[in-house]
Formats: sequence, C-alpha cells, structure tokens
Amino acid sequence: MTIKVTPLSDALGAEVTGVDLRERLSDVDRKNMEDAFIKHLVLVVRDQELNPRQYMTATRLFGKPMRQYFSDMILEEQPEIVVIDSREAPLLPNGEPRLVGSGAWHSDHTNTLQPPKVTVLYAIVLPRKGGTTGFANMHMAYDALPEDEKVKVDQMRTVNTLGKVINQVSTADLEEFGKPCVHPLARTHPVTGKKAIYVGPVKVECIVGMGQDESRRYIRELQERVIQPDIIYRHYWKPGDLLMWDNRSVAHKAFRDYDHMEGRIMHRIILEGDVPV
Ligand code: OGA
Ligand code: MN
Repeated sequence: MTIKVTPLSDALGAEVTGVDLRERLSDVDRKNMEDAFIKHLVLVVRDQELNPRQYMTATRLFGKPMRQYFSDMILEEQPEIVVIDSREAPLLPNGEPRLVGSGAWHSDHTNTLQPPKVTVLYAIVLPRKGGTTGFANMHMAYDALPEDEKVKVDQMRTVNTLGKVINQVSTADLEEFGKPCVHPLARTHPVTGKKAIYVGPVKVECIVGMGQDESRRYIRELQERVIQPDIIYRHYWKPGDLLMWDNRSVAHKAFRDYDHMEGRIMHRIILEGDVPV
C-alpha cells in the first residue's frame, strides 16, 4: 500500500489515503507521513477502523502520549485516551459545554510547561450535520503581522493557568496541572524554525508586564485581526477520520454547529512536546 497525500486547502491540512493504521507502516510510508505532517500541519487519515488499542499503537508512531487534565473522561481500557462526548456537555454545573472542543481559537494544554506537540482526534460517533472543527495556520498569522508588531510580539510572554477551566477539572487534576506557567506568545517551531503565534486565550491570566484586562483585550484583538479566512481550513468530519494537528503552529476551534444531545464522540490523545521557545 502506498500512501497518497492530498492538500485540503491553500493554508494547511492534507488528506492521507491508502493507509491502514492497523497494519505496520513501511519505513517509506511513515517517513512520507511525517514529512506531510510537518508540511501541512494537519493530517486527516481517512477510513480507519481502529479499536482503542490499535488507535493507541498507531498514534505512538508519531510520539509519546501524555496525561490530559480530564481524568474523569478517561477511557478505562486505554487510560491515555480521553473520551469527548458532547452528550456530557450539558452536565457541567454552570450549564456550559465542556471546554475540550472550545469555541475559541486555541492551542491545547497551554497550562503545562511542556505542552503537547500534537493532538489526535479519532471520530467515533458523528452528528448527522455539523460538528466541524476549524484549523488556522499560525505561521501565516505571524508572518502577516506588521514588522514592528512582530518585534513587540516576539518579546511578549503569556502567563497560563487553568483559571477559567477550573469548574471542569477535578481537584486532583487542578493540583497536578493548575500551576501557572509562562510561554512565549510567538514560538519557534523546533523542526522548521518558523515562528507562530502561540496562545490558548482561555488560559491566559495576563501577558507579563501587562494588566489582565489589557492582556486579554490585546490577545482577542490580535486573534481577530490575524485569523482570517485565508489561513483557515474547516474540517467536515467523515466516519473513520483520524485527524492530527501540530499544536505548536496551529490554532483550532470547535464550531459547535450541531445538536450536542445527538452525540458526537471523539477519542483524543495528546503527544508530548518541547518547552516552547
Ligand atoms: C480538542 C478540541 C475540537 C473539536 O479536542 O482539543 O478543541 O471539534 N476539539 O472537537
Ligand atoms: Mn482543543
């Protein structure tokens, strides 16, 4: 079997066909997938039929799974998999949908010192309509900034916590993942050396040296300005899709364009990354 990689948009994303992740990938296929991932930043591997163990094994080819701060959503048989089930959403005490699948453009787990390099979602149950996910190429976002603003952004550091996520996280997870950590607002990709705007706005307490309101306003305004249609790919899920994105260079959001009670179930794995620099 030889893999075929087809771009999904001008900005980012590619579809991978001709691969069955239940089987051992040849060295050539694996290298092609790794190269495609670095080039396209989002890969959609189509038509997969994986049980949780096979899903774990396939994902390990691309990195080392790490713990997620959703201990209450863990799949018992494979504890590194978190089950995101939209039907659980209304069960939150404040009545809001769970923040996995946040409706704001974000990178995942920015509250950790070494945030994941990759997030993987495998579609288990899809709604009849909607449930789409947006991806934005944050290298392009950075490149589009005026030169003087690049200089400014290069110096900015965000302080990140689980602050606003607190009521969705168990006390034990809060203990483990809740400590503030500082990240550059523009990070350099460890493989390509390219810069990207890097932020998970919900977790930002402030930008170092700036007040909270001013920091949040700046980040909101920055995202609105740079995340334009020409840097976005919007994914319409199909059964069997296994999708992985590069958290170092891609912002994503859930469009939440479906009936949450109908059921949308994703199996989620995150892979260890470096300390952002
Ligand atoms: C996530 C996430 C979006 C979606 O899993 O981190 O943001 O559409 N998911 O499920
Ligand atoms: Mn996310």
